[in-house]
Amino acid sequence: MRIVLLGAPGAGKGTQAAKISERYGIPHISTGDILREAVKQGTELGRSAQAYMSRGELVPDEVVIGIVAERFRRTDCAKGFLLDGFPRTVAQAKALDKALAESNCALDAVISLEVDEAEVVRRLSSRRVCGTCGAIVSSTGDAQKCASCGGELITRSDDQPEAIRRRLQVYREQTEPLVEYYSESGVLRRVSAVGTVDEVFDRISQALNH
Ligand code: AP5
Repeated sequence: MRIVLLGAPGAGKGTQAAKISERYGIPHISTGDILREAVKQGTELGRSAQAYMSRGELVPDEVVIGIVAERFRRTDCAKGFLLDGFPRTVAQAKALDKALAESNCALDAVISLEVDEAEVVRRLSSRRVCGTCGAIVSSTGDAQKCASCGGELITRSDDQPEAIRRRLQVYREQTEPLVEYYSESGVLRRVSAVGTVDEVFDRISQALNH
């Protein structure tokens, strides 16, 4: 299975990616997680990405394309992968097409998670994540520690109101055109991301089985 998860910030890509990756036994490749880890480690990549990310801007294409190309070289990608947060621009989508063609393979499905902006603002405003393992926690509970690893729960620096607004604008301008791009190549599956996490996952599973 080679799958791309598309969707606005807060649509539930990371939440669903964890479940899809487990169900299909494929690695979950999140460019956001890779970049956040680089920021945490204070690497050169992290230092250059941090300013873009906290403003809600995209990190430059050539940087992100390089990250994904390097990740694809790992042997676990031979059996497939789930891309979460990549591609995000037409240039990134074309780079992905080229990399797949060079390996004589193609995408099986692009899942577009669809939800309105009021709901994603609500979700992002209340999200917390584990500062240690990165697990996503819906803050409707009052937990202070991560249920998986006991790490401290924190608010992502780009979940501030101004950054959320900018991320949504960037999504509309630069990422939404990919819905049309993948629709033309016949791999697009539109899935409503409204409802419980399990309801959304059932819809995704059905879309992947078609
Ligand atoms: P990235 O980490 O990819 O962030 P994003 O796309 O903005 O998406 P999010 O992680 O905010 O949301 P999500 O859709 O994963 O939702 P989640 O499952 O957490 O990117 C961050 C930044 O890195 C970018 O802004 C950019 O700077 C940079 N970057 C990354 N990739 C790049 C690229 N390719 N090119 C250039 N720059 C790049 O869910 C959100 C909340 O909702 C959670 O609290 C969750 O518990 C809750 N929730 C989930 N599902 C449901 C549900 N069904 N009902 C109710 N609540 C739900």
